Amino acid sequence: MSKKVIAVVGATGAQGGGLARAILADPNGGYSARVITRSRGSEKARALAEAGAEVVEADAHDEASLVRAFEGAHGVFCVTFFWNHFSPEKEKAEATAMARAARAAGAAHVIWSTLEDSRRFIPLDDDRMPTLMGEYKVPHFDAKGESDQLFRDLGLPTTFLLTSFYWENFIYFGMAPKPGPDGVLALTMPMGDRKLPSIAAEDIGRSAYAIFKRGQSTMGQTIGVAGAHLTGHEMAEAFSRALGLPVKYNAIEPAVFRSFGFPGADDLGNMFQFNRDFSEQFCAARDLTRARELYPGMQTFDGWLAENAGRIPIDAGV
Ligand SMILES: NC(=O)c1ccc[n+]([C@@H]2O[C@H](COP(=O)([O-])OP(=O)(O)OC[C@H]3O[C@@H](n4cnc5c(N)ncnc54)[C@H](OP(=O)(O)O)[C@@H]3O)[C@@H](O)[C@H]2O)c1
Repeated sequence: MSKKVIAVVGATGAQGGGLARAILADPNGGYSARVITRSRGSEKARALAEAGAEVVEADAHDEASLVRAFEGAHGVFCVTFFWNHFSPEKEKAEATAMARAARAAGAAHVIWSTLEDSRRFIPLDDDRMPTLMGEYKVPHFDAKGESDQLFRDLGLPTTFLLTSFYWENFIYFGMAPKPGPDGVLALTMPMGDRKLPSIAAEDIGRSAYAIFKRGQSTMGQTIGVAGAHLTGHEMAEAFSRALGLPVKYNAIEPAVFRSFGFPGADDLGNMFQFNRDFSEQFCAARDLTRARELYPGMQTFDGWLAENAGRIPIDAGV
């Protein structure tokens, strides 16, 4: 029997890459991976082709190219690229193009990688946090959450996949513990003493594969995934164990984080404040037992650190 094709947007990246590799690692699973990339000649695209994936070029800003790329696919995995342009308008345009293309191609199952629209929790006129870009509280959350309705309006058979903070942010996103004035490594996050749901990015893709395999029963559902719910103190303790060095948690205020000035600092400051102030709802939407039932191989933070601590850019001051 021929395999069902899953077209994977962002397959050369974190979430989509996890999904593409999960499909390729299961040759008898009944699915094949179609990698969507803007450049089939890139090193990552070629590595996936060598591993057995079909590679197709398309751009999320060119709907016709997406229609061609999704043609004949059973499943379509949709993820958008906020941090490439920092624009919620562009992110919504990407989601629109993907949803419309999935519909035009007649996809039987769509996974939309989304996050909460924070404005459902903190209306724009609530001054607990600043409104950004005129109409958002957490732009990279709000653009995704707002886009959920698109998938519904088009009547697409969609599973809404609520993702979590990647542990890879400690490797690539400048969030690793850094030495403080006393020379001791400190993990700086404005989470107070509240728990943050977090995950290995690769496990988001693996969970997406499990959702495609479950199929029909997941359509219309919102499924949250996380490998752990941890406070800043608990994360710092895990870093200490993995690095063999003292690491403390430096709980700052979200306003201080917003003032750091790097691109997106205000968005991330608001994100942490939102995650902190609604930690209970945020964790409940990403139930650890259910996530592990969906994908039993889900990594823990200690397990991920045991594999990845050497990749974390630590400038140990002690
Ligand atoms: N960092 C976190 O903690 C976190 C947590 C939850 C959700 N998220 C969300 O995750 C999303 C990004 O997903 P990711 O981390 O998996 O992405 P990623 O690792 O940055 O990779 C995205 C891939 O998408 C492709 N791409 C970029 N622009 C494209 C376009 N216009 N058309 C087609 N393909 C394009 C690129 O591939 P080519 O160069 O091969 O085309 C790239 O390899 C963001 O919206 C972010 O908000 C992040």
